[in-house]
Amino acid sequence: MSKERVNFGIIGLDDMLGGGLIPGSICAIIGTYGTGKTTFSLEFIWDGLKKGEHVIYISLEEREDRILWYMKQKGWDAAPYLDTSLFVIKLDPTDFNLANNRIKNELPSLISEVKASRVVIDPISLFEDLFENDADRRREMFRFVEGLRDKKCTIMMTSETDPDNVFSSRHSLIEYLADTVVLLRYVRSSDLTDVHLALEVVKMRMSAHSREIKPYEIEQTQVTVYSEANVF
Ligand SMILES: Nc1ncnc2c1ncn2[C@@H]1O[C@H](COP(=O)(O)OP(=O)(O)O)[C@@H](O)[C@H]1O
Ligand SMILES: [Mg+2]
Repeated sequence: MSKERVNFGIIGLDDMLGGGLIPGSICAIIGTYGTGKTTFSLEFIWDGLKKGEHVIYISLEEREDRILWYMKQKGWDAAPYLDTSLFVIKLDPTDFNLANNRIKNELPSLISEVKASRVVIDPISLFEDLFENDADRRREMFRFVEGLRDKKCTIMMTSETDPDNVFSSRHSLIEYLADTVVLLRYVRSSDLTDVHLALEVVKMRMSAHSREIKPYEIEQTQVTVYSEANVF
């Protein structure tokens, strides 16, 4: 694997990305519920922890104990890393002022303070939901993402899809702000008897990447992207 890339930690996906994510870039993982957004972001965090990096996991959905339990199910004991190199923050997605303050003001200083090289926000769409209108959301998200770019850490944000368009994030915003966009979705066979998971890298700024749609599987202990196989 390329040394100049930040590995995702998922077999097959790093190959599709040309070795992994570009250090300091922002990656969006977009998919409907159950497609694996949380699983992918935990794989990314664990890859960093194994390499001795400091990571921040901001959860707007799952509680801290659920996240640790989920990692344990995967055979990873995160407890020794907790509060020394793994920082898990649960945000209340119903309290706009608190969530906004913690994400916009506290996160940038926390990244510097703990020397984090990877940050996950899962899912950013619950935070985006809190803005009163599109104009506010667009302006504030743009500022927030630009502020994070100065931090030189690699950032992953997950988003639910738009209920009417599985190719778009909930607010059709994060895909423009992110450098890399990975789209996760269900693919049904034509007779509707089979459902598979498939992903594609729809965007990667300043890099060559695979544009093919590849099947993937989530198993208890690992995620595998079959980069040699075809969905269609
Ligand atoms: N321990 C496990 N073993 C096998 N499959 C699992 C396990 N944990 C989760 N999955 C599968 O992964 C799917 C995606 O979970 P998750 O990452 O929480 O999705 P999302 O965050 O996109 O809603 C689950 O619906 C389930 O099918
Ligand atoms: Mg999730």
